[in-house]
Amino acid sequence: MDILKKIEQYRSQEEKLRWEGTFADYLELIKEKPWVAQSAHSRIYNMIKDAGVEEENGHKEYRFFSHELFGLEEALEKLVEEYFHPAAKRLDVRKRILLLMGPVSGGKSTIVTMLKRGLEAYSRTDRGAIFAIKGCPMHEDPLHLIPQHLRADFQQEYGIKIEGNLSPLNTMRLEEEYGGRIEDVLVERIFLSEDKRVGIGTFSPSDPKSQDIADLTGSIDFSTIAEYGSESDPRAYRFDGELNKANRGLMEFQEMLKCDEKFLWHLLSLTQEGNFKAGRFALISADELIVAHTNETEYRSFIANKKNEALHSRIIVMPVPYNLKVSQEERIYEKMIRDSDVADVHIAPHTLRVAAMFTVLTRLKEPKRGDIDLLKKMRLYDGENVEGYNSSDLNELKKEYQDEGMSGIDPRYVINRISSTIIRKNVPSINALDVLRSLKEGLDQHPSITQELREKYLNFISIARKEYDELAKKEVQKAFVYSYEESAKTLMDNYLDNVEAFCNKSKLKDPLTGEEISPDEKLMRSIEEQIGISENAKKAFREEILIRISALARKGKKFDYRSHARLREAIQKKLFADLKDVVKITTSAKTPDEQQLKKINEVVARLIDEHGYNSTSANELLRYVGSLLNR
Ligand SMILES: Nc1ncnc2c1ncn2[C@@H]1O[C@H](COP(=O)(O)OP(=O)(O)OP(=O)(O)O)[C@@H](O)[C@H]1O
Ligand SMILES: [Mg+2]
Repeated sequence: MDILKKIEQYRSQEEKLRWEGTFADYLELIKEKPWVAQSAHSRIYNMIKDAGVEEENGHKEYRFFSHELFGLEEALEKLVEEYFHPAAKRLDVRKRILLLMGPVSGGKSTIVTMLKRGLEAYSRTDRGAIFAIKGCPMHEDPLHLIPQHLRADFQQEYGIKIEGNLSPLNTMRLEEEYGGRIEDVLVERIFLSEDKRVGIGTFSPSDPKSQDIADLTGSIDFSTIAEYGSESDPRAYRFDGELNKANRGLMEFQEMLKCDEKFLWHLLSLTQEGNFKAGRFALISADELIVAHTNETEYRSFIANKKNEALHSRIIVMPVPYNLKVSQEERIYEKMIRDSDVADVHIAPHTLRVAAMFTVLTRLKEPKRGDIDLLKKMRLYDGENVEGYNSSDLNELKKEYQDEGMSGIDPRYVINRISSTIIRKNVPSINALDVLRSLKEGLDQHPSITQELREKYLNFISIARKEYDELAKKEVQKAFVYSYEESAKTLMDNYLDNVEAFCNKSKLKDPLTGEEISPDEKLMRSIEEQIGISENAKKAFREEILIRISALARKGKKFDYRSHARLREAIQKKLFADLKDVVKITTSAKTPDEQQLKKINEVVARLIDEHGYNSTSANELLRYVGSLLNR
């Protein structure tokens, strides 16, 4: 019932958007809304811009892409700034074919699909409205009706530059149907739709070696030749090729570089003059974005072929590398799982993160700087604070390689391994260890992995595994503390009171008896030793903390245990060290006694309530951490 109502609503909305009038009416309309006469490239650029742009550290992030594509901000910024923006300004790049080049499953098709779906929606908005000569199979721009000799005047009056000639079909229709009266020609609003083949097309060569150009540019309609008497009568021609249909919008050219070069030559005039040849007609102007995609190997062999030189210079190549940020990679997996049929399986915390670490490590190149290893680089790339490094180190690292992210493990592989883990394990819950194991097994079956690469990847799996061990231990230890945050705060306050007394050479008051006591040297040292502060260095460390406190206080800020990375680490380690034995004994007890059992249940409950586990994954985690601590 509800859905039927919605369908009806949609229909009436579509009805409201409809517009039809004469060319004279249309001229009135563009006086009011000149943007409806913009070129396809300009419309695409505005669509991207209208969705919102966020600026951060001199970089632009386009929201149009950001809800589906993660970690590609820099590549997308380049794509918009170096292609769409100048193309919208009618610079020559718009005639070039846009070629997205990147590794498999790196998001190229997703970009194209987003542009297509985006245009369909945008053409239904006021800002994205498009109008065309009614009844034209190519949805030709009505302004083409204005004869060449009047265009300069038109531009002066309307401020709109007209490009392109009236197509042979509409030239004929103008005479036959409208008796040459331009002002009477009917114009309608069109709504881009891939399904209806309006302004959005996909060309996929059936046989790259013997492809018929008719699929792109249309063909003679033999059934009507008799009626019109001649092959060169445009009415005897079907303008239903993909280039025709995609006019005013975009055409995706799949497997372009696999096509025979002779076939691609047909594209030369399109990429040079913005028009193409169909049948025995004068050139047909095209106003559309042509976008293709390829991988690096295919692209290299394409440009290595001398015969392709002419076309090569008419292609704009935009790299679409893999994402290199662990946290963004996690989001990619979350999205892909959400869209899959395993969406209801419980995935234990950290599982996707650990898989993402492995994946990103396979994509990164070894830093040239000696003081940074791959793991640190991975952290810096993800925006983590790494002690001793800052954003200028990050920029330096990024500059070391221009072509990073063009190889490595693709997200689809990881999702396939996760799916196969889920199917095989046959329980509605998987954890990081399951996935790492499955990734490892999968390396044997992966078609494009050499022995050498395999060794390297196995090493990355063990690095990711070590990272997981640390995460797992921390998680369990935190769950053992009744309230981790509170305990950490209490311990730190206690430490700070003592440090203050120590530095001021004063005494503390015992909270119970009220008597004066000396600073607790043993307590302070037990914390400082956790991060390797020596007896000689302790004074400087304590003074530094006091300075930090007063500096923050001057800014009206309060020092808490998170304000100082090293102190925070020390506090955490101290808390965990105190707990270690309890955790160790409790988690690994074969037959836990009553008290241990109570504790285990408490911890499991906390893992479930506060940390996102279910009972299977929480118990698995405890058992695993027990075995780790007993090693
Ligand atoms: N950076 C990313 N952000 C979000 N999703 C991504 C990203 N990279 C890849 N994906 C996801 O991975 C899957 C594969 O991506 P897509 O099909 O767009 O890749 P492709 O580059 O066209 O690959 P191919 O070369 O195999 O055609 C999609 O589900 C896509 O959403
Ligand atoms: Mg693809």
